[in-house]
Amino acid sequence: MEELIKALRLQLEAFEIKDAATLEQFRIQFLGAKNEIKALFKTPEFSAVPGPDRKAVGQALNALSKAAQEKFDSFNDSNASEDESEERTDISRPAEKESLGSRHPLSLVKNQIVEIFAKIGFSVSEGPEIEDDWHNFTALNLPEEHPARDMQDTFFIQQNPDVLLRTHTSSVQVRHMEQAQPPIRAIFPGRVYRNEAISARAHCFFHQIEGLYIAEKVSFADLKQTLLYFAQSFFGDKAEIRLRPSYFPFTEPSAEVDVSCSICGGKGCNVCKYTGWLEIMGCGMIDPAVLDNCGIDSDKYTGFAFGMGVERIAMLKYGVKDLRLFSENDIRFLSQFEGVVE
Ligand code: PHE
Repeated sequence: MEELIKALRLQLEAFEIKDAATLEQFRIQFLGAKNEIKALFKTPEFSAVPGPDRKAVGQALNALSKAAQEKFDSFNDSNASEDESEERTDISRPAEKESLGSRHPLSLVKNQIVEIFAKIGFSVSEGPEIEDDWHNFTALNLPEEHPARDMQDTFFIQQNPDVLLRTHTSSVQVRHMEQAQPPIRAIFPGRVYRNEAISARAHCFFHQIEGLYIAEKVSFADLKQTLLYFAQSFFGDKAEIRLRPSYFPFTEPSAEVDVSCSICGGKGCNVCKYTGWLEIMGCGMIDPAVLDNCGIDSDKYTGFAFGMGVERIAMLKYGVKDLRLFSENDIRFLSQFEGVVE
């Protein structure tokens, strides 16, 4: 009898419970109504055990049943805790919102402007933010000591007046003209720097988009029509533009461009200071001297250029009142543009 018990104990200990199916097999074999431990009580070997030893044998069999129960429970428990954790997952709960981040409002506006001009054949190109005097000033008809250099407070680098942070994207206009021959149709977006006091309306760095069109017989009418197309694409079909005479050293004639106030529809409000118009950019016909400086034959070709501030346009589009918000990276400001895809 002792041997039978020993053999069964070894069997019980060696039994490998891997999953629900083997657990059930184990239960039937060692704990079920017709389990093998119980069966030992009915064997002839058990009947042959002499009376005084019966108690000890019975105890050994009970201990075996207990061991079987413990083994069963320990596996069942560890499984049960897994089950419980599954239960804790409430699959009917609404999904948590994934934060996708958002594009910066300046990128949104820049992309939209680039797209509007791409539709009429303008390509995009970029240039360096650290410039030399030639590309930022001299080639653009601003020789040294020219008073118009004061129009833009320049950051110079390393005490070397030939190394500076570009004050406008017109420097990219020069680089582009030096490398290409007409017809040229391109826009140049980028960051520019000016040594100005930071306020709600000015910053020491901001963004511009410059445009350039050079070919034979390009006229001021082409410029006006291009700008009207842009204003209506960006501000809506009802937008109107008006050009006021202005001065830039690199264009002649030059103009400032106003667009009818999209907020009040031209009736007058505090954004347009009750004029009905908002200034959005500078423009003009490229001065022939600038074309010649950049290796383009000014007898054969004419062209126009325009330049606008991206912050200014973004402020108008989104009703932003303080320019500093664009560079402060305040998540409360930036997250308002979540989901805006343009
Ligand atoms: N570069 C000018 C500025 O920064 C804008 C401009 C560009 C004007 C092209 C005319 C033509 O103010």
